[in-house]
Amino acid sequence: MSQTKPVYASFRSIGAYVPEKILTNADLEKMVDTTDEWILKRTGIKERHIAAEDEYTSDMAAKACELAIERSGIAKDEIDLVICATVTPDYFNMPSTACIISDKIGIRDVQAFDISAACSGFVYLLSVAKAFIESGMKKNVLIVGAEKFSSIVDYTDRTTCILFGDGAGAAMISATSNKAEGIIDLHASADGSYADFLVTPAPGSVNPVSQKVLDEGLQYVQMKGNETFKLAVKTLTKDVKEILAKNEISADEIPHFIPHQANYRIIKAVGDALKMTEEQVVVTVGKYGNTSAASIPMALNDIWESGRLQEGELMLLDTFGGGLTWASALLPFAGKSK
Ligand code: ACO
Repeated sequence: MSQTKPVYASFRSIGAYVPEKILTNADLEKMVDTTDEWILKRTGIKERHIAAEDEYTSDMAAKACELAIERSGIAKDEIDLVICATVTPDYFNMPSTACIISDKIGIRDVQAFDISAACSGFVYLLSVAKAFIESGMKKNVLIVGAEKFSSIVDYTDRTTCILFGDGAGAAMISATSNKAEGIIDLHASADGSYADFLVTPAPGSVNPVSQKVLDEGLQYVQMKGNETFKLAVKTLTKDVKEILAKNEISADEIPHFIPHQANYRIIKAVGDALKMTEEQVVVTVGKYGNTSAASIPMALNDIWESGRLQEGELMLLDTFGGGLTWASALLPFAGKSK
């Protein structure tokens, strides 16, 4: 009797797109009651990129996808699933942004859908791609985290507008029979009892579009910054400790630790708790701000493009976000070095 060979999901390539326009702390000083010094000290953010008015989440995502496809060496007609993670879709109800992206990059007749997990979106995408591939249902899954976060930010609210930026990052996840290339472990979870920590109250079934929604600014992101900060440090640290212990890997064996880029103080606290060196911890929050589902793939793209991420090297991804959601993943980079 013939036995089916096990299949593993491998991370083949990375691509990202950053919009041209830069919003600096000096620009924000002119918009709200803040200072460059306060923003830098409390968040580590110097600037963030903002999409043009007529540049949508799907446009940024499509550009990141084209790069990830080209770098994977996989032909478009071999891709059998496209998934997008975003909380700033082109349209809030339908169609999904993944459908629009697929059309923009010329992929038709394949399954396409969105997921919503806020800043945990990219690692959640990895978990979905892994499940589809390892069950044998799909072979090449194109995943993309993309956000036009500026479309839900109130630029008169100094507590949120300093934090977020726009951008997109994509990856090709492919089937392989070589276990050494596969995702080693992945953990994703959520706790909806913290839903009010990060919320965009409208539009939705709770608050359909109305004059009241606009008058009260319910279409903008609201955040309990302090509470989110504390929980983020705790969750990110605990998650990494667990995934490393489970796989009997010590923190010093990880060349690339890529935490969600929300705030440098969060990243530093987690890195210190894990006794990681500056060389191990990837930090891009200073130049991109928090780009939600795009933050981890944009950071990965940065280290790949600079030649820092090499074929076969271990990556440890660690994220948290609205929901609340959190996730971590341990995997080798199975693509080619630059
Ligand atoms: N400029 C100047 N002062 C400010 C600003 C600003 N931009 N924003 C707030 N302040 C003031 C506050 O009003 C407060 O003043 P008060 O003491 O007179 O009341 C003071 O600064 C301190 O405010 P805190 O909120 O305590 O400042 P904190 O050090 O916690 O920093 C921050 C705030 C940066 C938001 C931090 O809490 C944080 O990063 N939290 C995590 C947020 C996060 O990660 N969110 C993303 C989640 S991922 C996702 O899914 C989208």
